[in-house]
Amino acid sequence: MRVLVLNGPNLGRLGRRQPEIYGHTTHDQLAALCAGWGRDLGLEVEMRQTNHEGELLDWLNTAADQETPVVLNAAAWTHYSLALYDACAQLTAPLVEVHISEPKQRAEEFRHTSYVEPHAGLTIAGQGIDGYRQALEFIAAQGGH
Ligand code: DQA
Repeated sequence: MRVLVLNGPNLGRLGRRQPEIYGHTTHDQLAALCAGWGRDLGLEVEMRQTNHEGELLDWLNTAADQETPVVLNAAAWTHYSLALYDACAQLTAPLVEVHISEPKQRAEEFRHTSYVEPHAGLTIAGQGIDGYRQALEFIAAQGGH
């Protein structure tokens, strides 16, 4: 089964960006880890990152057409994008929301809202990058449905 792991803005700077919050693993390392975790679970993982919201929306629209399961860390867009809300609403295969930190526990009030959560079968937050492994495990257990 093919699974998309989609990362939103600033996550390309993982490892360099606020490591005290997001850790020291780079995005390339995370991609390699996800590919390995996926292999162990019988999943073909395709990992992408973008700083351009329209690009993420295009990927989600294609995932809807192809009924592809999605692991989504939409980063800051999570908290304010109604277009993201609408794009996630149309997905029929499993959607897992992931955040490396726990946005609801953070000081900035804007992080306490998620426009992905209402559509996600599961939200994993505050588990560091292991959250991605847990998300893939959930998708493998769902068998794509
Ligand atoms: C994040 C949490 C968001 O609030 C933040 O805007 C991010 C990363 C996380 O993975 O913890 O960019 O999604």
